[in-house]
Amino acid sequence: MATDNPAEMNTTMDPSKDILPPNIVMADSFSPFKPSPQRGLMKYVRAGFGIIKLALIRRALNDDLVYERYIRENLARLFVANTTICNARCVFCPQQFHVDKKQAMPFDIFADAIENFVAHGGRLVTLNSNNGDPLADPGLIDKIRHARKVGLPVLNFSTNGILLSRGTLVQDIAALVDEIDISLPGFDREDYKRVYGVDRAEAVLDGLIKLIEAKRAANSPLRILLALRIDRPLEEVMADEGMRQLKPYLDDGTVVIDPDQIYSEMETWSDQITAESLPGIMTLRTDVPVRTRPCKRMMNDVFLLADGQVRICACRIKLSNYDELVIGDTRTQPLADIVHGPAHRALLQRVAAGDWPEVCQDCTLYQAQDLPRQTWLAMAWDLLGGLFRR
Ligand SMILES: C[S@@+](CC[C@H](N)C(=O)[O-])C[C@H]1O[C@@H](n2cnc3c(N)ncnc32)[C@H](O)[C@@H]1O
Ligand code: SF4
Ligand code: SF4
Repeated sequence: MATDNPAEMNTTMDPSKDILPPNIVMADSFSPFKPSPQRGLMKYVRAGFGIIKLALIRRALNDDLVYERYIRENLARLFVANTTICNARCVFCPQQFHVDKKQAMPFDIFADAIENFVAHGGRLVTLNSNNGDPLADPGLIDKIRHARKVGLPVLNFSTNGILLSRGTLVQDIAALVDEIDISLPGFDREDYKRVYGVDRAEAVLDGLIKLIEAKRAANSPLRILLALRIDRPLEEVMADEGMRQLKPYLDDGTVVIDPDQIYSEMETWSDQITAESLPGIMTLRTDVPVRTRPCKRMMNDVFLLADGQVRICACRIKLSNYDELVIGDTRTQPLADIVHGPAHRALLQRVAAGDWPEVCQDCTLYQAQDLPRQTWLAMAWDLLGGLFRR
C-alpha cells in the first residue's frame, strides 16, 4: 500500500533497510583497521612510552630469568593450517600467488601437536589456512573429533563455506565446533564470480541454510558469523535475494553478521595485492604502521603449518609460509619446546634489535606487542633488581 510517511517510503524503496541488523551501521566503506589517534601532545607521550617499552623488551629478551617470568608463556591459542588447498580464487587474496605445496595436514601431525598443546594447557585451536580453506581438507572432521576427544576446550575456523553441503559436514560442525566464520561478498551470482572467482554463490547459500537447520535441530551452541568482503555498497549486498532468505535467521540471531568483519578496505598482504585488482568499492590499505617493537603476532600467534613445521605469525606471508618466521618442526621436537624456545627467542631478539624479516617490512597488519601496565612495571622492577645482582 502507498504511504506518505517518509520513513516508510525509505523502507519501501530500499529493501535492504528492513534486513540490516540493528548492530550494523550503514557506511560508505568498511575497514578492519582502527588506528589509535596520534595527535598533539599524546603523540609524543605515546612515542616516549614506546621507547621505554622497547628498551624493556630488549632487556627482558636477553635476561633468562625475566624472559622466563614475563615473556615465556604457556600458549593459549594455536593456529593450524589443516590444509593449503582452496577452491576459490578471491581477487583480494594472495592465495593465487602462493608457491607452497597444496596438501592436507597428515592426521598424525595434527594429533601429536594438539595432544601436546592440550597437555600444556592450550585452550583454543583456530583452523586458519592463511592460504587454503579448512573445508577442503577431507580429514577435517576426523581431526576435529580427535581434538575434542583429547580435551580441547574451544575450536573455531573461517571458511568460504562452498563445501558445506558435503555429506554430513553440517551435522558434524554443529556437534563439534564452537564458531564458524563464513567469508563472502553477498549472494549475487555475478558479484560472487567477480569477487570470489568461482560460480558458487548458490552453493554457499544452500550450505549455510543446511548448517543453520543442523544447528537448530541439534540445539547446538555453534556461533555462525558472516564475514562480509564487499565490493558493493552494503545496502546493495543486503538486498540480495540470498540475504532476504536469511532474514528470519538474522532476526532470531541463529546467524549473525559480525560488524567488525565487514571489509571493503583490504590489505596489500605485504605488497602482493594491488589496487587495480580490486573491483567496485573495494580499496587497498597501503599505510604501513611504524614498527616500534616486536609484533604481537610474533609473541602469541603460533602457527602449525600443514607439514608440521611451526611458524610465528599465522597471518601474513609473501609467496610462502616457509620463511624466516619458521621456528621449529613438530616432527622432531614437541610443540611446547618450540614455542618460546631458543629459535623463537632468537627471532624476537633479532627483531627487537631492529632487524626485521622481509615479510614484516611492508606488512600493514603490524601491531606492537603490549602487556598489562602491571606487567611492564613488574618487569622493569625485576630488570632493575638484576642490575644489582650482577
Ligand atoms: C586467507 S583466508 C583463509 C580462510 C578461508 N579460506 C576464508 O576465506 O575464510 C582468511 C581470511 O583472510 C581474509 N583475507 C584474504 N585476503 C585479504 C586481504 N587482502 N585483506 C584482508 N583480508 C583478507 C579472508 O577474507 C578470510 O577472512
Ligand atoms: S580468501 Fe579464503 S577462500 Fe578466498 S582465495 Fe583466499 S583462502 Fe581461498
Ligand atoms: S609484522 Fe605482519 S608479518 Fe610480521 S609478525 Fe606482524 S603481522 Fe606477521
